[in-house]
Amino acid sequence: MNNSPLLLTNVGQLLTVRSVLGNSGPRRGTDLKNLGIIHNAAVLCLGGKIVSVGTTKEALRDPWLKNNRKKVSEIDCAGKVVVPGFVDSHTHPVFVSPRLVDFEKRIEGASYETIAEAGGGIRSSLEGVRRAEKQLLADKFLFVLRDISAHGTTTVETKSGYGLTVESELKSLEAIREAAGHWPGTVVPTLLGAHVVPKEFQNCSQKYVELVCKEMIPQAARRKLARFVDVFCDKGAFTATETAQIFTAAERNGLRLRAHLSQLARTPVQPLLRFNPASLDHMDHVNGDDIAALAKCDTITTLVPGANYFLGLKEYPPARKLIEAGAPVALATDYNPGTSPTLSMPMAMSLACTHMKMSPEEAIAAATINGAWALRVADRKGSIEPGKDADFAVFAVHDYREIPYWFGMNRCEMTVINGEVANPH
Ligand code: NIG
Ligand code: FE
Repeated sequence: MNNSPLLLTNVGQLLTVRSVLGNSGPRRGTDLKNLGIIHNAAVLCLGGKIVSVGTTKEALRDPWLKNNRKKVSEIDCAGKVVVPGFVDSHTHPVFVSPRLVDFEKRIEGASYETIAEAGGGIRSSLEGVRRAEKQLLADKFLFVLRDISAHGTTTVETKSGYGLTVESELKSLEAIREAAGHWPGTVVPTLLGAHVVPKEFQNCSQKYVELVCKEMIPQAARRKLARFVDVFCDKGAFTATETAQIFTAAERNGLRLRAHLSQLARTPVQPLLRFNPASLDHMDHVNGDDIAALAKCDTITTLVPGANYFLGLKEYPPARKLIEAGAPVALATDYNPGTSPTLSMPMAMSLACTHMKMSPEEAIAAATINGAWALRVADRKGSIEPGKDADFAVFAVHDYREIPYWFGMNRCEMTVINGEVANPH
């Protein structure tokens, strides 16, 4: 880490997303719109942390800065927009090949479920990962990580889940660790051994669940290869009972919980909420009871509209109902080869605005501070406030609403991670 101070000046709009008075939890309801914008702003960083935030005028009057100006690297933002580095709280980056045949079949009219039943989908990605050397997986992931920060993301959750044997799931997590060591941002690893039941266990899913609970989870936990355990709890994957079994094993091994839920068909959320998962993701099929239960707790509902877009679905998750009921929502890319091959958070935000009717302000808060909550790293990430990690993205725009407005192109000009420039373009 570089200890030389960094000063950003002349920020046209600094979206601090700082905490709202009296609210120390995730953002809900109208608080999602409060971005704490400072115009003509400056941010001073030291030792990788933010030390002060204010107007450029105030910063230049600061006596410490006056005396130390020569030691400080200064970036003149020339009226551009600076946001907290995005927190992408849901990705599946450890795979070998894109799934182009599935893509073509869907264009011809086949559904995600039909393709999966015919041997495509998640199961068709397994062989590549099982055969691959760890180094190949790490190299591919590192390439993706560089692209991720070039789009303004500085913290990313990354799942295993395309090996589905003890050996290949641990290899995937090791590859994540290896690549993460060469990237300045923060990687939060998740074990998704319960992605689907692999062919070898087709008629004995309980045996596979036991393998996940008794081998994968304890080994990943002992070797500190994962912070979370995820389960794909849905039609064609794991049942709510199996999910509860896996959650119990994860808890016993000191790992935190998250799940893919209600993407293809509804599963009631209440029985899973008693495990206090950090996040439940997708949630296309939630109903009024689910939403009322989510509004009462700190479990984040993570919406991933990239999957709906790429699968060509007409329906999107009910973001407005969730927000209006007071459920805390986050946005993520769900980067994966089957349903959402994008790592662009601005693209996810654009889809949130156009298809889920979230406002640009709500989309930004959901992609920053609530993403940080979904990973339980909100004490360090997701807003620009003194004491937090100095992770920002500089966008070559003059109004923050342009971030979700321009789609299919990258307006992120520079990413700063731990107070150092990571991606200058
Ligand atoms: O989040 N739904 C489960 N998992 C992924 C899809 C994975 C794949 O198709 O490879 C998702 O959409
Ligand atoms: Fe996913």
